[in-house]
Amino acid sequence: MFDVKKIREDYPMFANHPDLVYFDNGATTFKPKPVINAVMDFYNSGTSNVHRGDYPLSVHADQLYDGARVKIAKFINCDPKEVAFTAGTTASMNQIAYGMEHVFLKPGDVILTTRTEHASNLLPWYRLEKNCGIKVEYIPADSQGRVHIEDAENAMHDKVKAIVIACVNNVLGAVQPIKELAKLAHEHGAYIVVDGAQSVPHRKTDVKDLDIDFLAFSGHKMCGPGGTGVLYGKYELLERMDPISLGGGMNARFDSCGDVILKSAPEKYEAGTPNIEGVIGLGAAAEYLMSIGMDNIHEREKQLRGYFAEKVKQLDNIEFYNPDNETGPVAFNAKGVFAQDAAGYLASQGIAVRSGNHCAKILHEIIGTDQTIRASLYLYNTEEEVDRCVKAMSEITLESAIGIFF
Ligand SMILES: Cc1ncc(COP(=O)(O)O)c(C=O)c1O
Repeated sequence: MFDVKKIREDYPMFANHPDLVYFDNGATTFKPKPVINAVMDFYNSGTSNVHRGDYPLSVHADQLYDGARVKIAKFINCDPKEVAFTAGTTASMNQIAYGMEHVFLKPGDVILTTRTEHASNLLPWYRLEKNCGIKVEYIPADSQGRVHIEDAENAMHDKVKAIVIACVNNVLGAVQPIKELAKLAHEHGAYIVVDGAQSVPHRKTDVKDLDIDFLAFSGHKMCGPGGTGVLYGKYELLERMDPISLGGGMNARFDSCGDVILKSAPEKYEAGTPNIEGVIGLGAAAEYLMSIGMDNIHEREKQLRGYFAEKVKQLDNIEFYNPDNETGPVAFNAKGVFAQDAAGYLASQGIAVRSGNHCAKILHEIIGTDQTIRASLYLYNTEEEVDRCVKAMSEITLESAIGIFF
């Protein structure tokens, strides 16, 4: 039984903001006590650098840091040596793109992606398009952001070296057929690179079952600390790929002629002092989510999202962009009202949502607008909060939205 009341007790933010409805979980999530405590314990009694000291405090920090890697590996079902810690999805995606540049890609090669992607999943490839002569092509997506495997098959050809795609879209919540896309990529000798920023926090992710080559996700969107993230890669690919940051901790030796021998993965991707306390907190977040159960979280969110969607469908003043998607954000506009003004009205009623293009700046080519409001839920949200949000949405008019400024 999913006890949301009990779950909310884990989050000090609710006690500190009793009247707030927080529906901006796609941007970042609240942090539960086990995560806060893990970070605070490190500050209060565990502070030391990692992989550098011979004294007990430092060895303990090594154990905590490397222990987090084991927890993340369990969380996504891989080997701990396939987990490199980064600053977030953006850092991981940049590492993958620029790391693939010299090793896996040559001029004329094609990256196949979609127009629904977040900037961090497109811009690095656009730069490679300019700097190293690869080409970015798009698989069509339907009006709610969903990619159909037949369209991907039609878009596939032998110059494609990677399919790059978010498992769950950050605006429309479309869930892409990752397993089928991975099969398709591999049949053509290509790789699959998955942006898991909006999927890993919300559903079970089994990289082995999905046969994903590379996966990126952020800690702060899954109850973990900011400035943390994960780059997963199949071990032989991580070993072949180039790290984009060089420095301490990731080299085995170098000499004055400039010859450098790198450590093996994952250490070679962690140049410099890592975000130790963040990584320890991220490990605690994965452990916390696993203790509730990713399938339970997924089912609960599906149920709450369904409840929300049915109510939104009944609002005449609302244009609802993704009524059929089962999970993920509710994307909408109040008819005739600029998205930011409407979000301002919701804020005046104590409801936190995000408005704008949500970093998916070519999605408008599919949905016809680059301004939407996104209400994104997480495991701790409730039906009562949905009711409050729906009531406030029903009140949005040009007058009410502008009225908050006077
Ligand atoms: C689908 C998707 N990809 C990538 C990112 C970038 O994540 P971060 O800002 O944590 O690096 C986000 C953030 O909103 C996202 O939603």
